[in-house]
This record gives sequence, C-alpha cells and structure tokens, in this order.
Amino acid sequence: MLEKVQFIAKEAGNIIKEGFGKNFSIEFKTNESNLVTEIDQKSEQLIKSFITKEFPNHGILAEESGSMDGDSEYLWIIDPLDGTTNFAHGLPIFSVSIGVQKKGETICGVVFDVMRECLYSAELGSGSYCNSQKINVNNNNNIKRSVLVTGFPYDISENPEFAIERFAAFLRNSRAVRRLGSAAIDLCYVASGVFDGYWEVSLQPWDMCAGKLIVEEAGGIVTNFKNEKLDIFSKQILASNGNIHKEMLEILKIHESDNY
Ligand code: IPD
Ligand code: CA
Ligand code: CA
Repeated sequence: MLEKVQFIAKEAGNIIKEGFGKNFSIEFKTNESNLVTEIDQKSEQLIKSFITKEFPNHGILAEESGSMDGDSEYLWIIDPLDGTTNFAHGLPIFSVSIGVQKKGETICGVVFDVMRECLYSAELGSGSYCNSQKINVNNNNNIKRSVLVTGFPYDISENPEFAIERFAAFLRNSRAVRRLGSAAIDLCYVASGVFDGYWEVSLQPWDMCAGKLIVEEAGGIVTNFKNEKLDIFSKQILASNGNIHKEMLEILKIHESDNY
C-alpha cells in the first residue's frame, strides 16, 4: 500500500512541477484569496484515476471534487496540491498530501515536497522517513528557543478563533515564527526536527491527514487546542516535538486572558 501511495504522490508531483511557472488557468473558490488552478485539478484527477483502477472499492475524499463512497473500510484523503497560493505566485513551496485510513484510523501517510523532491512517508507503527532516511522530531524543551510555524485560513480577515492574537502571542514567546503556505510541509518539518511546533485553525482533513501520522511516527504529539486526541475533521491542530506541547497549549489560551 505505502509504495503505491508513494508512487502516485510522486507522479502527481511531476505534473505540478511541469506546470510550475507556466501559464495555467486560475479560478476563485470562496473569495479572491482562495484559488484553484487547473494544475490542482489535473493532479487530483491523476490520483483519483489511479485509486479507482488499483483499488476500485476504496472510498475517496479529495479537496477539489469532494467525496466518493466506496464499499470497503479504506478511505483515501487527498490534497492534490497543498500550497496553491505559493504555486500560483511562483513560490516553490508546495506539496501533494495523501493519507489512507482503514476503519477511520490513518494507516499510511505520504507528503511529497515537490520542488525539494523530498518524499515524506509513514506507516502506522513503522516510523517516519524522508526519502529513505529515518526522521525524528527534535528534543528542544524551551519554547523561547523554538522556531514555530503556522498558517492562516482564507477568511483570516474575520480573525477566526483569535488567530491573530494567538499568532502575536507565539511571536512574543518563541525565537521565531514562520509561515510557509503548505500545512502538509509544515507538519513534515516538525516531524524532521526543523520546527519545534506548529498550530493552525480552520484546516481541512486533507491538509492534516498524512502529516499528522508523519509527526506521530517521528515521535511528536498532535492534538487539538485542548490537548485532546486530534480529530482531522475538527479544523484545529497543534503539533509539536512533545517537549514544548504544554507550553504551546498555555499560549493558545490567549483568548482567555490578555497577559501575553
Ligand atoms: C492551504 C495551505 C496553507 C494553510 C491553508 C490551507 P491549499 O491549503 O495548507 O498553508 O495555511 O489554511 O488551506 O489551499 O493550498 O491546499
Ligand atoms: Ca491544503
Ligand atoms: Ca489544495
């Protein structure tokens, strides 16, 4: 299963790479910030036709075309191009993210960082890898010395879930905060020890499914903002190396006090 997921993630990545910097059509989704390009669609089509050919009874949940029920216990959760804004503006940070669930549990996850040609993958219980190299979260235990990453939803102008206040609080309490523009890559950088922690609100299951498993299998922790088990359908995510998780949870309580 993992090899097939890796294969199709790379194939989709090749389509994206070929399209990068060329002319492609762009449409707006919910507003002028929320884009979809013809390359997002092509990547998704390719992945979906592969699944229907190889695993005709598996279910599919894909960002651009919604869900397709299968009559099996398997569900593929797909972001065909994570980082569309970067892609559309010529910034080479974007990925393909594919997670496979069995009876609601993610059993394998693959994120292909297209331009760096890094294939991140994990299978439940078997660790996480970047290409064939094992990866692990880092062991920093001081939030003041941590480099964090986050992202902003397309409706950030409405400041959902105190996103702006929380961002300011993390800025004040860490060494630095980055915003890369691909949630799946953010998670892989936590898994490989580049970043110490990541949080975001208003995410979709295809943004988190594969990356969550990759962080966990690399020794990290992924929860919601209340330190409960993460439900990938529940929008918010906190992922860390484990050591700074508690401190990050405290900072996420910013909306309950203004002491930060
Ligand atoms: C987006 C990216 C971004 C995150 C947004 C997502 P898309 O996905 O992951 O980093 O901040 O919330 O929607 O639209 O490029 O697939
Ligand atoms: Ca996405
Ligand atoms: Ca996408």
